[in-house]
Amino acid sequence: MTILVTGGAGYIGSHMVHELADAGEPVVVLDNLSTGFRFLIPTSVPFVAGGTGDRPLVGEVIAHHRVSAIIHFAASIVVPESIADPSRPIFLGEIYISLETARFQARTARRPYGREVAHLTIHGLLHLLGEDHPTPAARRRMAALEASLLTSLRARVAALTPEVV
Ligand SMILES: NC(=O)c1ccc[n+]([C@@H]2O[C@H](COP(=O)([O-])OP(=O)(O)OC[C@H]3O[C@@H](n4cnc5c(N)ncnc54)[C@H](O)[C@@H]3O)[C@@H](O)[C@H]2O)c1
Repeated sequence: MTILVTGGAGYIGSHMVHELADAGEPVVVLDNLSTGFRFLIPTSVPFVAGGTGDRPLVGEVIAHHRVSAIIHFAASIVVPESIADPSRPIFLGEIYISLETARFQARTARRPYGREVAHLTIHGLLHLLGEDHPTPAARRRMAALEASLLTSLRARVAALTPEVV
């Protein structure tokens, strides 16, 4: 029953790691050290160097450390980089969202643009967590997970991104 902190060597993530370790919670950190520092993590906390997009590695970390919860801080904080060119995907710790796809889906399905951005984000997050849709049954399972997460997160997404919802 370990908590995996992605981006745990970063500014926010390392504070979380210290809080959890001080509270006696088993923790493991996954970080590619692109902007983080190994020395920010207590030496008692297991550290795995690698990216959140490395599915086999993430799966191995989850299985080996018996991870029961994930706190995800692995991301780029440089907002201008993400919004400077709207045709480029937004980087969210190896979740890439195509705003053009979101716009296209919103237009063709006549759904709000912000909903499609949220949908694609959750879709990417589920992939990151190991979900996939190679078969119709898996596609239905993923769609159900997305719908359930969207329902519970919609209010928060609306509060965070009122300009696109
Ligand atoms: N710093 C703030 O004031 C602040 C405030 C609110 C929210 N946030 C959010 O918290 C999150 C972390 O911000 P931060 O300030 O700690 O940034 P940070 O750059 O200090 O930390 C990000 C960490 O993630 C790691 N990382 C990046 N991509 C990775 C990947 N693909 N795989 C594994 N590790 C990866 C980096 O090496 C780094 O250690 C961001 O989503 C940010 O938007 C930050």
